[in-house]
Amino acid sequence: KAGDTKTEVKETAVDKKITLGFSQVGAESGWRTANTISVQDSAKEAGIELKFSDAQQKQENQIKAIRTFIQQKVDVIAFSPVVESGWDTVLKEAKEAGIPVILTDRAVDSKDTSLYKTFIGSDFVEEGRSAGKWLVEKFKDASGDINIVELQGTTGSAPAIDRQKGFAEEIVANPNLKIIASQTGDFTRAKGKEVMQAFLKANKKIDVLYAHNDDMGLGAIQAIEAAGLKPGEDIIIITVDGVKDGFVAASEGKINFIVECNPLLGPQLMQAARDVLSGTEIPQRIVTKEGVFTSEDAKRELPNRKY
Ligand code: AHR
Repeated sequence: KAGDTKTEVKETAVDKKITLGFSQVGAESGWRTANTISVQDSAKEAGIELKFSDAQQKQENQIKAIRTFIQQKVDVIAFSPVVESGWDTVLKEAKEAGIPVILTDRAVDSKDTSLYKTFIGSDFVEEGRSAGKWLVEKFKDASGDINIVELQGTTGSAPAIDRQKGFAEEIVANPNLKIIASQTGDFTRAKGKEVMQAFLKANKKIDVLYAHNDDMGLGAIQAIEAAGLKPGEDIIIITVDGVKDGFVAASEGKINFIVECNPLLGPQLMQAARDVLSGTEIPQRIVTKEGVFTSEDAKRELPNRKY
């Protein structure tokens, strides 16, 4: 009957609780923890049922989680891809099942952009550029070589690729700035410390550390102090993220410059999920706004940092 159909449509389109399957990268950093909390809290607030899965920094776990979400017939899938490549097959499976996908935080390199509805997150290349610009200005009067070591994020991840690219693009402006070593620290504090220890052992003169996130920078600070050097003075330190621990180190002068990367993507994700399911047009790319902080700025801002 026509009346029955109407009731049915109303229930599915308006009253049905949205189920969102979310595959998180892991718990590798303070940034990630803040991001997870933001997604969980925002889902609760928006009345969206969240199925949360932690991939422990492994792509195979994320692919498994996405396949489980498809089997469970969730309404929408969101994920923060641990690496950029290798997603086409599983994304096609989601598309064939009629389940829209939203990328948060990190991008995929799929040529077919119809495999996802939108990508919400930072401009990582721009973050790398901000770090590089600050360094070029800082050493504009240097006459000799300035040796830089770089702690990269997870190999193959969008933030590691893009932060390296943006930084390299800018520092060519000053031929004195030389990257003498570059290695992954997997975005973790423990790896950051370990790799910095190796850098210090292998290189007599290190002037600058560029760490792709605060956690690796904080681990490296431990290694620098253990080597009897003063972080922020003997070695200039630049990091990305701007989590509370990073701000504490910056306000103590141990980190000289932080490029912010905002982890609080939950509210935008819930809005995007609602829009996608209700057929509201949304942009294919939603870029997060963020700032940069010197040690002085960090001192001022520290009391306001929530995460
Ligand atoms: O993708 C964002 C990056 O992932 C953050 O900079 C880092 O801390 C996290 O692990």
